[in-house]
Amino acid sequence: MPVDLNNAQPLAWDSATLDADTKAMLDNLQPNILRAHVREHLSVLFVRFNDAAEGRAFLRHVATTKMKSAREHLREVRDFNAKGGRGTPYVGIGISKAGYRDLGHSVEDVRKFGDRVFRDGMKRRVAEVADPPVETWERTYQREIHAVILIGDAEPEPVAALREEILGELPESARLLGEETGQGMRNPAGDGIEHFGYVDGRSQPLFVKDEVDKEPKQHWNPAFPLSNVLVPDPFAPNPVRHHGSYLVFRKLEQNVRAFKEIEQELADNLGLVGADRDRAGAMLIGRFKDGTPLTSKPKAGGGPVGNDFTFDGDDGSKCPFSGHIRKTNPRSFGREVLMARRGQTYGERTDEPWDDSPPQTRPSGEVGLLFMAFNGSLLNQFEFTQQSWADNPDFENPATGHDPVIGQGDRDIKVAFPKVWGKPELSAPQAQVAQTVTMKGGEYFFAPSLAYLRNL
Ligand code: HEM
Repeated sequence: MPVDLNNAQPLAWDSATLDADTKAMLDNLQPNILRAHVREHLSVLFVRFNDAAEGRAFLRHVATTKMKSAREHLREVRDFNAKGGRGTPYVGIGISKAGYRDLGHSVEDVRKFGDRVFRDGMKRRVAEVADPPVETWERTYQREIHAVILIGDAEPEPVAALREEILGELPESARLLGEETGQGMRNPAGDGIEHFGYVDGRSQPLFVKDEVDKEPKQHWNPAFPLSNVLVPDPFAPNPVRHHGSYLVFRKLEQNVRAFKEIEQELADNLGLVGADRDRAGAMLIGRFKDGTPLTSKPKAGGGPVGNDFTFDGDDGSKCPFSGHIRKTNPRSFGREVLMARRGQTYGERTDEPWDDSPPQTRPSGEVGLLFMAFNGSLLNQFEFTQQSWADNPDFENPATGHDPVIGQGDRDIKVAFPKVWGKPELSAPQAQVAQTVTMKGGEYFFAPSLAYLRNL
């Protein structure tokens, strides 16, 4: 039986009765797609090949000597949870449309990728998602990137060693066009945070049973069918068993100083005082800094970061419709749009992102998010989220505004915010908050099956 990607049952990957096709799928799938891999330290290499045979041989070598399968990763996590110890580093590969062409696939062949957004590449999609012009992107991303290599681990040393090794194995004909270094950040509670200081990565579509089992499910079902992230790999020996995933990569710079000033201004404009001032930033994100969902509680605090909630019954007087997490996952519909986010923060900080230091002590650039997400369809998931939800001031309700975190395009309407949590009284309409996240470049990739890479 071919793997049913639309099956909504979470994957019982180590069950004795797992069918042969699903086993083969997991043995040939890259890790970090179905379940996030540890990547506290992350190296991202952007490569161009220039010689098909040498490019193929290089990728085959990396795949056969350095990459584990999704199933091996799931086993490592199970063993780590049972007895501790260390897992092996993550190595992942994504190939762009231009990369497939350079590796010798014909134009006809590349049409086998169903996702036309992937076939266009990110540079040709600027208008659709209101990205800045390509000429303003960082140099690396203006060039024609053929592949991305991701190396991740809990510790810096294995990442540095593998980076050296892989770069040493790059053939003469290939070029390293550029690279990024990701580095996780945590708050005192140990939760992963992004540069504005908020807990990130908590809400994810989950695919494997052990992860789903751990979640409370009274209001929100965290289990998603594999189709949210997997498609048959068109060039694999057996696309019925061999799958891949579309990977979006975007370097998003964060002006933390400006965002912190906006939080304070908004709190002033709404007359918020004392601990209630934290609600200003929470209205922009949809969660308080510690991850507490704003639709559930008027104040931060109260235990582990929850994800068992919906916005049903919230007319925008608790969490505004524009709040980042409400825009990007309205929860009562659009489940098929949710991507598996696998990003990592970049840039050095000397301050503590989570504390209440004044805005002028915050960085105004050079830090941000290496946004990455796996998709079954870039058109219907990443681009749809950015274009039809985040960039759309009328999504769900007219004149509620852009996503204040990632919305792009003219913010020419005025918006009102609830003055008191859960009460109908609204502030006077005010200009939308300024854009503080700037896209510095990126590309669309396909993370092929290991079967494809090993057979190159
Ligand atoms: C969730 C920040 C970019 C989509 C979140 C959360 C934070 C955050 C703090 C809450 C944590 C959680 O619920 O897991 C940021 C920042 C970004 C950024 C600072 C840029 C620098 C993006 C982009 C997209 C996106 C580009 C997609 C177009 C999402 C989604 C969620 C989320 C889908 C989960 C919502 C949910 O399921 O409740 N983000 N994000 N984010 N973000 Fe972003």
